[in-house]
Amino acid sequence: MASTHFGFKTVDEREKAQRVRSVFDSVAPKYDLMNDLMSGGLHRLWKRYTLTVANPQPGDQVLDIAGGTGDLSLAFSKKVGPTGRVVHTDINESMLREGRNRLLDLGVVLPTLVCDAEQLPFASESFDFVSVAFGLRNMTKKELALAEMCRTLKPGGKLLVLEFSKVAQPLEKAYDWYSFNILPKLGKWVAKDEESYRYLAESIRMHPDQETLRQMIKQAGFGHVDVHNLTAGVVALHVGIKC
Ligand SMILES: C[S@@+](CC[C@H](N)C(=O)[O-])C[C@H]1O[C@@H](n2cnc3c(N)ncnc32)[C@H](O)[C@@H]1O
Repeated sequence: MASTHFGFKTVDEREKAQRVRSVFDSVAPKYDLMNDLMSGGLHRLWKRYTLTVANPQPGDQVLDIAGGTGDLSLAFSKKVGPTGRVVHTDINESMLREGRNRLLDLGVVLPTLVCDAEQLPFASESFDFVSVAFGLRNMTKKELALAEMCRTLKPGGKLLVLEFSKVAQPLEKAYDWYSFNILPKLGKWVAKDEESYRYLAESIRMHPDQETLRQMIKQAGFGHVDVHNLTAGVVALHVGIKC
């Protein structure tokens, strides 16, 4: 079995998937509250920006990968309307259940499916948009997942990868201090789980930077890739066009 990273630890590939599963099993009930607290609500703006750049139209077909509690799925579903379709997916049942229940409470019913981004159970060229927000970082074989995203997009379709990235150098020290001191404590007090939020900080540091990820997306088969830095690179939106 090949080895990979789980935060700063080196683990074998199967162990990473199990550890990621237990992180999201543990954080699922408090996931939305923690997102608001950790980002000061900024994650809502990053997601809104993603929708603005995507510019989906009524009738479009959308696949939301690692959709978790459903923020992007919900936003896309408002845009594509009743003639379109948004498939809300995640590898983790606990996260998906939180998301599905939340959307049902809002009166939104979407096809919801447990599936692994590295092995998507969809025909090639099925979707106008594929989105993945804050999910790619947790995947073991990112190249495989990106290739699957490319396969399932129609020609001309758009991939949207919203993910933590490399922050601008003058902010690095303050961002590191916040990530390694405040985040785990917030996790401990609110979600009763310090370790998962330490993993969050570590996994961000191990994730490819803006340019490396841009090259990975091109390697996966996308003809053109744009990078949008958000909040000084705390987050980046990569937009890949399947040409
Ligand atoms: C930080 S959450 C993001 C949830 C949501 N997209 C959001 O932006 O709030 C990351 C999600 O990635 C999912 N994930 C991790 N590995 C995955 C994989 N191989 N395939 C699909 N989803 C995966 C996790 O289960 C988790 O729900």
